[in-house]
Amino acid sequence: MNVFLTGAGGYIGSAVARSLIEAGHSVLGLTHTARRAGSLADAGVQPIIGNLKDPSGWARHAAACDALVHCAFEMGPDAPATDRAAIEALLKAARSADAARLLVYTSGVWVLGSSRTPLDESSPLRPLPIVAWRPSHEKLALDGAGGKLRTAVVRPGCVYGGKGGLFELLLKPLASQGAVRLIDGGANCWAVVHLDDLAELYLRLIEHGPETGVFHATDGSAEPLRDIAEAFLEAAGGGSLQPWPLDEAKVTLGPLADALALDQRVSSEKARRTLGWTPKYTSIIENADELFEDWKRAGARPVGS
Ligand SMILES: NC(=O)c1ccc[n+]([C@@H]2O[C@H](COP(=O)([O-])OP(=O)(O)OC[C@H]3O[C@@H](n4cnc5c(N)ncnc54)[C@H](OP(=O)(O)O)[C@@H]3O)[C@@H](O)[C@H]2O)c1
Repeated sequence: MNVFLTGAGGYIGSAVARSLIEAGHSVLGLTHTARRAGSLADAGVQPIIGNLKDPSGWARHAAACDALVHCAFEMGPDAPATDRAAIEALLKAARSADAARLLVYTSGVWVLGSSRTPLDESSPLRPLPIVAWRPSHEKLALDGAGGKLRTAVVRPGCVYGGKGGLFELLLKPLASQGAVRLIDGGANCWAVVHLDDLAELYLRLIEHGPETGVFHATDGSAEPLRDIAEAFLEAAGGGSLQPWPLDEAKVTLGPLADALALDQRVSSEKARRTLGWTPKYTSIIENADELFEDWKRAGARPVGS
């Protein structure tokens, strides 16, 4: 299949590109960083240089592909507007061809809010303030389905594996200072997923052509952050954990602090049942040594870094 992938050089997008290419698909990867084009090409991605904000530069490439996968994300105050404009442009491109198309939109589990019992795709949304805008974007993508166009929303847990993502917040200070601060001591659990397993879920969505709908992508574990940090400390050869009161963390991190303090359980039974998706990684703690080594050497691996 021909796949148009935004954010092809990003943390999630590069893993999705790798898995699609390994499975024999052609990937046209959008990047707004021209210097990334060469390394994307080296990784087997056909680079399309363009900006989410200016679809005129890339929409015709998207329109020509069987699947359109949105993994790009622009940080900053314009993030919601840029993301909405990108979804609208992708929907328009997908509808412009009178042919079967799949649009995959990447959301995240933070739209679900906290819960100590597993939430599924039918659970009511209680988004954290940092992603208050996200549910309407999910709806835009889902409501855009019709005729020959199907749309899927993927809600990954916090992604681990390789270099990138939120776990950098643990691993970087641990490697450089031998110390990690954990909000309110880290008794909370994040819903998480390994990068390679997440990429496999995208591959299955694209290859198995699901009905329109939402798919959670989490590994089923519920490991307190404190225990994860201790396992990484051991893998790194020692260090210390320091509690960080939430109010103090908010001064430094703003609304991200509430997201890091989230205590959440999320079920991915739907993806297991309907896509035959079985995550290979189901514990960070048990794989901490491998993950730490992987993180240290990951500079050699990403597409388009
Ligand atoms: N990482 C996680 O743990 C996680 C968990 C759940 C959900 N998510 C969601 O998944 C999505 C991707 O996350 P990520 O961690 O892969 O982010 P990322 O590593 O920052 O990748 C995003 C990519 O978007 C591209 N981009 C940014 N602004 C652009 C623009 N104006 N035009 C075109 N491309 C642009 C950038 O690539 P170029 O510089 O090459 O253009 C960047 O590498 C986000 O929506 C995020 O909220 C992430």
